Amino acid sequence: MKTEILKMLREAQGYVSGQELCERFGVSRTAVWKVINGLKEEGYQILSTPRRGYRLEESPDILSMSELKSRMRTKWLGQHVVYFTETDSTNTQAKRLAEEGAPAGTLVAADMQTAGKGRRGRSWQQSPGMMVSMTFILKPEFAPDKASMLTLLAAHSVAGAIEHVSGLPARIKWPNDIVINGRKTVGILTEMSLSVEQDSIHYVVVGIGINVNITAFPEEIREVATSLYLESGRKVSRACLIAEVMKRFEEDYTLFLETEDLSGILDDYNTHLISRDREVRVLDPKGEFTGICRGMNKNGELLVEREDGSISNIYAGEVSVRGLYGYV
Ligand code: BTN
Repeated sequence: MKTEILKMLREAQGYVSGQELCERFGVSRTAVWKVINGLKEEGYQILSTPRRGYRLEESPDILSMSELKSRMRTKWLGQHVVYFTETDSTNTQAKRLAEEGAPAGTLVAADMQTAGKGRRGRSWQQSPGMMVSMTFILKPEFAPDKASMLTLLAAHSVAGAIEHVSGLPARIKWPNDIVINGRKTVGILTEMSLSVEQDSIHYVVVGIGINVNITAFPEEIREVATSLYLESGRKVSRACLIAEVMKRFEEDYTLFLETEDLSGILDDYNTHLISRDREVRVLDPKGEFTGICRGMNKNGELLVEREDGSISNIYAGEVSVRGLYGYV
């Protein structure tokens, strides 16, 4: 009932009458009042006016189940939420839940990770209560070799969500990062489990870490990392951002399933690609080279034009791509 009341208050343009809430849930005025009081204790500013009812003035930046669920506007993604105030890693928990049979679309979110995982075995720094640490479970039926495109898809959804919620220009650093004004703001870690026969996908977990309201970074990463708060000077509601990411990923994923490639988001992806039409160095184990990035193709490969005018297709995972100027 708490989530539904919160949702009704949030969606109402003004007041919701106490009577309406009693009738909707078939409970007494005291029961409604208790829920409202509970919400106030969690930090929600709710105006109670005699004869008019209740009006939500402001929500706190918390990641409770009710806060997340009351903001979700998806059909299936994030409709089942598992929330931890503290856990080791949302990716680890999502994999455990998927092994135990959690449905596709399950969202795992945490206020704090004690063992957040980054790519290439690195750890992912934490600032309790100021980041988004989220992972969702997918159970796709397409071939395993297409799964790496889910990271690219997620980067597109997250970039759009950040722009929508904060107004900041989010750019994708192919394949896994999102940068704002040249500094890393988001990291994505996708992990896959195959069937016993290794020929189909058992599940995929897509883990997303966003530096949201962090006010300062340690000296050693200050030059390469930033947060939405540091770039905009405004705090962003993490639950609102999570809900926007989920809505956009659900849409992007629907497009992806139609063609099993990235053609549905390609043009928009390329407008967000930071290295587009810029010089990049390709760290190919078979030989490094520089060239001009000409965008990504529908299979998720980066197209790099060499000095002789030929185009090299770069596969994520095989090689790294560095911009020639600093981190990007
Ligand atoms: C990277 O840039 O190296 C990827 C970082 C991914 C971090 C996120 S935070 C939520 C999810 N849980 C984890 O343990 N890792 C991912």
